[in-house]
Amino acid sequence: MGKIVALANQKGGVGKTTTAINLAANLAVMGKKVLLVDADPQANATSGLGFDINNRGIYECITGECGAADVIIGSPDVKHLSVLPSSIDLVGADAELPGLEDGHLRMKKSLDAVKAEYDFIFIDCSPSLGYTTVNALVAADSVLIPVQCEYFALEGLGKLLSTIKMTKSRLNPGLEIEGFVMTMYSRSRLANQVTLEVREHFKHLAYDTIIQRNIRLSEAPSHGKPVILHDAASTGSAAYMNLAKEFMQRNRKQ
Ligand SMILES: Nc1ncnc2c1ncn2[C@@H]1O[C@H](COP(=O)(O)OP(=O)(O)OP(=O)(O)O)[C@@H](O)[C@H]1O
Ligand SMILES: [Mg+2]
Repeated sequence: MGKIVALANQKGGVGKTTTAINLAANLAVMGKKVLLVDADPQANATSGLGFDINNRGIYECITGECGAADVIIGSPDVKHLSVLPSSIDLVGADAELPGLEDGHLRMKKSLDAVKAEYDFIFIDCSPSLGYTTVNALVAADSVLIPVQCEYFALEGLGKLLSTIKMTKSRLNPGLEIEGFVMTMYSRSRLANQVTLEVREHFKHLAYDTIIQRNIRLSEAPSHGKPVILHDAASTGSAAYMNLAKEFMQRNRKQ
């Protein structure tokens, strides 16, 4: 049975999508069956892997127009990797879902139907804590939280953690925190201090792997590819391979 991991942080541009794409792709390269669910109307994970953002996808699944299996597409480049795409239509979901029967369970129901076919399912959330993100947290077994190595990084985490706590107590008792991943690190006193603070505060939940700032990581989506196919020798690719290994190590221990 696949484990569902949501990548969430309501702060924008912290590396959720970059981490979702490259962690998913690397685990697939390691032989795991992986599904990447794009739960953001920006559809960056969809286009970043070279898929059309005008297809039916997660929005049609959660509104009940189709099932996940109808819209999941296999990656032509990465064996074992599939994507459940998003489109701009998803912007309406935050307003529409609360009016639907079992509105908070829509994503869970869609993904539970295909869960058995994958080892891991990653959900790339939008930078919001709205109803669609709560749907992802209800569907998920755990939350992986990318934290950008900069001054304001820690400010929003309290709100995110209280949303996770609320979801856990009211809607999804099994929800765990998978971990915190420091992203876009570049050597500076500030980045080191933020990293230290995250480690002190979240202890073993902070991943040992730190993702450096690397130009290849920001280029790869414009080629519709994960970084391992864009430039496998780059430091960015090596960092995300280490992250995938650490993710597997932590999941074996559980
Ligand atoms: N380690 C990195 N090095 C260099 N650029 C990066 C790195 N990680 C992410 N980026 C770039 O930073 C920008 C934001 O990253 P990304 O889209 O992954 O964040 P996000 O949290 O998904 O954003 P949003 O909140 O809008 O969904 C993108 O242009 C991405 O290519
Ligand atoms: Mg994103």
